[in-house]
Amino acid sequence: MRAMAAHPPDELAHPAVKGTRVRVYVWDLVVRNVHWVIALAMAILIATGLYIAHPFGISGGTPSPHFRMGWVRVIHFYAAIFFTLSVLVRIIWFFASPSLYARWKQFIPVQRYRRRELLNSLKFYSFIRPRPPDLIGHNPLAGLSYLGVFVLYLVMITSGLAMYAADALPGAYMKTFQFLIPIYGGLQTARFIHHLVMWVLILFVTLHVYANALTSALEENGEVDSIFSGYKFVHRGDVEKELVDEAAEKAGRRRG
Ligand code: HEM
Ligand code: HEM
Repeated sequence: MRAMAAHPPDELAHPAVKGTRVRVYVWDLVVRNVHWVIALAMAILIATGLYIAHPFGISGGTPSPHFRMGWVRVIHFYAAIFFTLSVLVRIIWFFASPSLYARWKQFIPVQRYRRRELLNSLKFYSFIRPRPPDLIGHNPLAGLSYLGVFVLYLVMITSGLAMYAADALPGAYMKTFQFLIPIYGGLQTARFIHHLVMWVLILFVTLHVYANALTSALEENGEVDSIFSGYKFVHRGDVEKELVDEAAEKAGRRRG
């Protein structure tokens, strides 16, 4: 509950706060910056990756006058550096962040109340329950899907490094990542997986933007804005309920 303690709802008078709602700081600077660096890098990686897979407008002959594929690959690799570093920073932040909402427990529902709400999230997305669960941070289903997305990020990084290592000059530092090639069962499989996972990520982003817009409109909690501003506008009762659930969870763990 450190994040809430750092931002006690009572002291936050804000023009957008109406009725029983309070403004809660959910996404810290690291979470927001990493989110947008990854999103931007991914847009560049998808565009350049599609070009690498299906090049066009190359007249043939020697590439030196235009060097088009060379430039596209360079852009892919620079975006890959930003992507890889941001993913690493976010993974460290899962364990180092002082904010409850940024930590790994938002992604793996180890607490009993989050497992209960996982079922409620599933019911909501299956049209069985009219409203999404009233949790402040990620809902447990979103958390689990983000965990899957981070695994896919790691697949993109390692398959990319495998392909890069194959091309690196002998003695170059990047040649170290050659060990990844047999793990992927060869270069061609690494390339195939790299390509396939891109489409899975494109599908995720489509659903992600839709699901965020949907819950934002239904809950009227400023969810889409929150990934820019850091703040959500939630019912005071939901904040209190989560505090009670967290405290019960901690007490249960101490007893057991
Ligand atoms: C390439 C594009 C994108 C990717 C890969 C992506 C991925 C993610 C991931 C992994 C998270 C979890 C963040 C964390 O805790 O570290 C997240 C959260 C979030 N993203 Fe995105 N995102 C993308 C684009 C967008 C866009 C365009 C929007 C705006 C509509 C958006 C809105 C949000 C919001 C509101 C959250 C917090 C949602 C929640 O409460 O669970 N994202 N995104
Ligand atoms: C979400 C992130 C990424 C996406 C969507 C993406 C997409 C792609 C695609 C579609 C291709 C073409 C594959 C083909 O020929 O069928 C490609 C090639 C490649 N990517 Fe990525 N990529 C991503 C991240 C990375 C990362 C992090 C690295 C490096 C660590 C990387 C390194 C490479 C390399 C070395 C190639 C082969 C280039 C060549 O054959 O000339 N990629 N990428």
